[in-house]
Amino acid sequence: MKNKFISIKEAMKKGKGKVAVRGWVYRERGSNEFKFIILRDSSDIIQCVLKRDKFPKQWNEIDKIRIESSVEIEGMIKKDKRAPIGYEIDSDKINIIGLSDNFPINKDLNEELLGDRRHLWLRSRKMTSILKIRSTVIGALHEYFRSKEFYEFQSPIIIPGGAEEGPTLFEMNYFGKKMYLAQTWQLPYAEAAIYSLEKIYCVAPSFRAEKSKTSRHLTEFWHTEMEVAWANLDKLMDCAEEMTKYVIKKVLEKNKNELKILGRDTKKLVPTLKKKFPRITYDKALRILKNKKKMKVKWGKDLRTIEEEKLMELYDTPVFVTYYPKSVMAFYKPRDSKNPKVARCFDMLGPEANGELIGGSERDTNIEELKKSLKTKGEKLEDYKYYFDINKYGAVPHGGYGLGTERLIKWVCGLSTIKDAIAFPRTATRTEP
Ligand code: 4AD
Ligand code: MG
Repeated sequence: MKNKFISIKEAMKKGKGKVAVRGWVYRERGSNEFKFIILRDSSDIIQCVLKRDKFPKQWNEIDKIRIESSVEIEGMIKKDKRAPIGYEIDSDKINIIGLSDNFPINKDLNEELLGDRRHLWLRSRKMTSILKIRSTVIGALHEYFRSKEFYEFQSPIIIPGGAEEGPTLFEMNYFGKKMYLAQTWQLPYAEAAIYSLEKIYCVAPSFRAEKSKTSRHLTEFWHTEMEVAWANLDKLMDCAEEMTKYVIKKVLEKNKNELKILGRDTKKLVPTLKKKFPRITYDKALRILKNKKKMKVKWGKDLRTIEEEKLMELYDTPVFVTYYPKSVMAFYKPRDSKNPKVARCFDMLGPEANGELIGGSERDTNIEELKKSLKTKGEKLEDYKYYFDINKYGAVPHGGYGLGTERLIKWVCGLSTIKDAIAFPRTATRTEP
C-alpha cells in the first residue's frame, strides 16, 4: 500500500488540499471547542486545528494529548497568516499513536540539566537544526575529498602507543596489556598508507584525555584528517582553505532554514567564501599581537587561546599561522632548512573567537632527526619503530592536516560551546547519557 503520509515540509509546499502528516506534538493548547496542536516532524512544524464538533467520540482522548505525544493527522491545509509558520491544517482525522508523560524539558533548564536530558533535548528545534547542519558538514567533507580523488582510508582506534601528545592518551586494559585510544590516524597509519594510495582522508573519532573545561575541547571528537604524498606546506594550506570554503558554501546553500532557527548571522560567513585566507608566520603574529593588541608573547612559546583570540579579532576569515618554533611542536614536524629554529607547519585559526580549527604540517622523514626530537620530548623510541621503518623505503616529502570537525560545526552554527556540535558529547565531566 502506498504511504499516504507526507512530510510537513512537503505539505506546506503543496499548500492546499488534503494532506496526511505525522509526528510529535511540539506545542498544544485547547479550549472547550478547539484543540490547537503544533506538530513537528524532522522536516518542520505546522499548526493543526481540531474542532470539537468534528470529533465527538474522540474528544476525551484528544484532551489527553500533551507535548511530545505522537499523532497522525489528516485534513485540509491552507495558508493562514495567524499561524506561526503561515500554514494551518484544518483537521478531520486524528490517530493518537503514543501518549506522552509530562515532557521534562522547559525554557528554565540550565545547560547542565539539558545535558542530563540530552536524549530528549535532541528533539528541540535547536538541536535538530544543528544535527542537520552537522550532517551537511560531514557529507560535504566526504564530497570534497572524493571530488579531489582522495581515497577514504581507515586506521585503528585501539593503538599500542606512539602518539600526538603522550599526556592526553586514554589508556585501556586490553587482555591485560596496556593499549590506548587513538588521538590521530597519522602515526604510523596514514603515513604508512600514502605509500600505497598517495592521497587519503578520513572522518573518524579521535580521543584526547583533556581535563580542561573549555568551550572547544571534547574527549571524543570527530577528526577529519588528510595525508598526501609529494605535498608541501603551501599545497596543504591550499587544500585546507578550499575544503573549508566548500563546506561553508554547502551549509549556506542547504541549511538556510536551520541557520535562521539558530539565529546565526550568516553575513559573518560570507568573507570566508570570498576572500583568500591570510597566511602569516608565527613571527609576524607575535609582531601583530605586540603592535596592535599590546600583547607580548615570548618567542618560543606556543600561542595560547587568549592570544589566538586577540589576533583573530583583526580578521573576518580563517587565518593560517605558519612556522611555529620547532621546540614546542610535535616531533614529526620538520625543521625548516632556511631557519632551523622553526618547523614547517601551520595552524588554521577560526574567526569569531573559534581558535584552532586545523593543525597540519609537512612530515620529517629523516630518521636521525626524528629520534633526536623524540628523545628531547622524553618519548620511548621503541614506541615509534614502525614510524621509523616506513621512512626507510623510498621516503618522499609528504604531509597532512587534521580538522576538529566539531570546532568547524561550532563556528558555522555560531554556537557558544562545542558540546552542542555533537549529539552526545563526551568531556571530562560529561559521560552520560
Ligand atoms: O592539532 P592536532 O593535535 O593535530 C593532530 O592530531 C595531527 N596529527 C593532525 C594531522 O596532521 N593529521 O589536532 C588537529 C585538530 C585541531 O586543530 C583541533 O581542531 C582538533 O583536531 N582537536 C580537538 N577538537 C575537539 N576537542 C579536542 N580535545 C581536540 N583536540 C584537537
Ligand atoms: Mg594543534
